[in-house]
Amino acid sequence: MIDKNLLKQLRPYRYGAAAVVLLDIVSAVIITARCYCLAAIIDDMLFSRLDREAAVPRLALLLFLFLLEAAFNLGVRFIAHNASIGIREKIRCTFIDRLVSSSPFSSVYNTDLLQLLTRGIDSFDPYFAKFLPQLVLTVTLLFVVLIAAFYNDWVSGIIFLVTLPLIPFFMMLIGKRAQLENNKQWAALTHLSEVFSELLAGMAVIKIYNQGKEQLKNTLRAGEEFSRAVLKVLRIAFLSAFFLELIATLSIAVIAVNIGLRLLYGHVGFLPVFFVLLLAPEFYKPLRQTGSMFHDAMGAFTNAEKVFAAIQKKNTVGGNRCIDFTKAPQIRFSKVYFQYAKQRENALNGVNLNFAAGKVTAIVGRSGAGKSTIFSLLLRFISPTAGNIFVDDIDVTSLAEKFWHRNIAYVPQQAHIFNATLRENICMGKTVDDEKINGAVEAAGLQELVSSMPQGLNTLVGNGARGLSGGQIRRVAMARAFLAEASILMLDEPMEGLDIMTEKVVQAGLKKIAQNKTVIIIAHRLASIRNADVIYVLEKGTVVEYGTDAYLCKNGGLYCEMLASSTGGRQL
Ligand SMILES: Nc1ncnc2c1ncn2[C@@H]1O[C@H](COP(=O)(O)OP(=O)(O)OP(=O)(O)O)[C@@H](O)[C@H]1O
Ligand SMILES: [Mg+2]
Repeated sequence: MIDKNLLKQLRPYRYGAAAVVLLDIVSAVIITARCYCLAAIIDDMLFSRLDREAAVPRLALLLFLFLLEAAFNLGVRFIAHNASIGIREKIRCTFIDRLVSSSPFSSVYNTDLLQLLTRGIDSFDPYFAKFLPQLVLTVTLLFVVLIAAFYNDWVSGIIFLVTLPLIPFFMMLIGKRAQLENNKQWAALTHLSEVFSELLAGMAVIKIYNQGKEQLKNTLRAGEEFSRAVLKVLRIAFLSAFFLELIATLSIAVIAVNIGLRLLYGHVGFLPVFFVLLLAPEFYKPLRQTGSMFHDAMGAFTNAEKVFAAIQKKNTVGGNRCIDFTKAPQIRFSKVYFQYAKQRENALNGVNLNFAAGKVTAIVGRSGAGKSTIFSLLLRFISPTAGNIFVDDIDVTSLAEKFWHRNIAYVPQQAHIFNATLRENICMGKTVDDEKINGAVEAAGLQELVSSMPQGLNTLVGNGARGLSGGQIRRVAMARAFLAEASILMLDEPMEGLDIMTEKVVQAGLKKIAQNKTVIIIAHRLASIRNADVIYVLEKGTVVEYGTDAYLCKNGGLYCEMLASSTGGRQL
């Protein structure tokens, strides 16, 4: 019922929380005073024949107490609602920050996390805005009412005390089951989102392979699964509401009958017991409300564990040295091994690589040889299982990640385009003058595309706007890297998807940009890297040969074989 991690979030709102407690205490006193006032008015009307004139101020007082209670209630809601907004915003910011700073290879990138970020964090609202203030009110009201009851009619006080634990006991009894069903509902929702996003992502393939009906069945099945899970949660919620209501009603009935009988036999005076009778619903109402709010807040308990586990996940990337490599650095891989999780074989088997300062080094090899893994290690998305990577003889893990990334311009194998203008996509948050942007656009062979666009560089591109072809996206990524002015340039298959003419333009641009930088190019098209200073040939995670194109050609090894089987022979 009380989650430690969720409660910790209240720290910055401790004054607000104190105000809520204070308002709830005063509210509890007002509720008791209101009941006494009403009991006194009815007592006077019945036994003292209260006249109209004398009744007016008392009724006015009663009305005032009602209004005061409503105002306090509003105040509590206002404070709790604002705190809930602030807390969720802060959690969401921390969550996004953690997501951005974690490795793209970490398991955090999945649909479940997307759900947690949106619906998961929003499910904390009923906990902070409703459940917690209600719980405080309930506890304070119980104390005040019990004191008032024992003072006025101890028999009813005992009945209150005996029936009091029934409701929390019942809530605890069904709490575990409700939590289980809530977890199942969450899993079903995540599955439904996965099925749906897969459906959207693979639409073209589904259409071509006529899998529409199968996919529809899958989606409907997932939808039904979710509906069933929701119904189970609702069933428990309705069942618990029914039992809470039943316990409260029966308890009030027991008190009423008991008071009625004692009044009938004249064992007690009217005012104190009638006051206690009026207090009875006020005693059980908040208990009942806490019970139903507990169900509303159940999502918060389910998701808090996952959200805080993701937030508190330790970032394994250590090091805090802040070095800007203004001069092109030398990069060295020393006996580097790497094995992906759940893979039996090593992706890299003790590779030694030397990327000379200010030179162009190429990595070639068959698909799956481990080329992109070398980049992921250098970018520190993953860490070597064994071995070290040095930059100018400094272990790369000792560098602060943000500073390290500032030294790198990177074109990934699968380039991504953001829903923004072409300019924003190229500049990536930097303020750069038009001359430099045009230089990068020209070097990446994007000039024709820019001039064909209605608003030139200011045209919106990406999913929701003007789409770009695979080759165009790759060139936007190239322009982005060219503009970065970093001393290390890493290109994973830069010429993929480019026609011969465009490739020539990009090659020329690359040659110009590559001056005084440590350039590493991964390439399948061997023709594009034949002029590289050193070429490493990788096979099953091992360097099988390396050297210049001329040396490797003479060597007659895998490179030679690959060259022979490749078509064309364009030069860098
Ligand atoms: N995220 C991952 N999780 C598990 N295994 C992976 C992952 N990424 C790559 N691998 C495996 O590691 C090996 C090396 O992959 P890598 O992406 O480095 O190859 P590559 O040489 O870049 O191939 P390609 O030329 O097709 O891009 C492959 O066997 C691949 O299946
Ligand atoms: Mg690759």
